[in-house]
Amino acid sequence: MDWNGLEKALEDYYKGEKSGHGWDHTKRVTALAMHIAQVEGADKNLCRLAALLHDVDDWKLVGGPMGQSAHARDFMDRFHVPLSVQDEVLSIIASVSFKGTDSVLPSTREGRVVQDADRLDALGAIGVARAFSYGAVHGRAMYDPQEKPHIGMDEKEYMRSKGTTINHFHEKLLLLEEMMGTDEGKRLARGRTEFLRTFLAEFLAEWNGEK
Ligand code: ADP
Ligand code: NI
Repeated sequence: MDWNGLEKALEDYYKGEKSGHGWDHTKRVTALAMHIAQVEGADKNLCRLAALLHDVDDWKLVGGPMGQSAHARDFMDRFHVPLSVQDEVLSIIASVSFKGTDSVLPSTREGRVVQDADRLDALGAIGVARAFSYGAVHGRAMYDPQEKPHIGMDEKEYMRSKGTTINHFHEKLLLLEEMMGTDEGKRLARGRTEFLRTFLAEFLAEWNGEK
């Protein structure tokens, strides 16, 4: 497998992408997935391939309906990935791509590894930075004390939601730790979620003029 070639092709594919799904996100998720796969005894090559391709058909990038995997297939064809492996990778990707605020645990260990890696990149300092970048790109207010968070949105409601970025912390980010599918993912999520709580407390204190 020509990993370097595939990574170069993906870096190229993601050029100009500003929605928080850029190549840098994919690189971090892949590194996290490899680490978790190692600790959890999952298939590292499958995790690596699925992590590298997990966002190439995301509706935020390609604008179409979910469930299509044309780009992922295309990349795997170009790099001569056997069809049976392609199918495994696509089913892993499909199992991690759920966008609502509910939790659907992938049935394979590799799916749980990649899902945890993707979620970890939404937590911690990187998670804060990505959330506010997303908010800026989508014209969202940082915070509005009048607007209460909506917990438990389904996929449609989540895609339509125009809430503030601080509400996104309550609606999704703070809930991820409990939803992690691997022990190592959960361990890493703990520290990163703690950081989110510290950030939120500081943000509110400064917003309210208490500091
Ligand atoms: P994934 O990386 O799993 O595809 P998403 O597409 O849901 O995740 O989100 C990508 C990034 O954008 C994440 O860091 C997430 O926290 C952030 N994000 C998504 N929706 C919002 C929102 N409504 N407000 C702020 N940030 C958001
Ligand atoms: Ni992602």
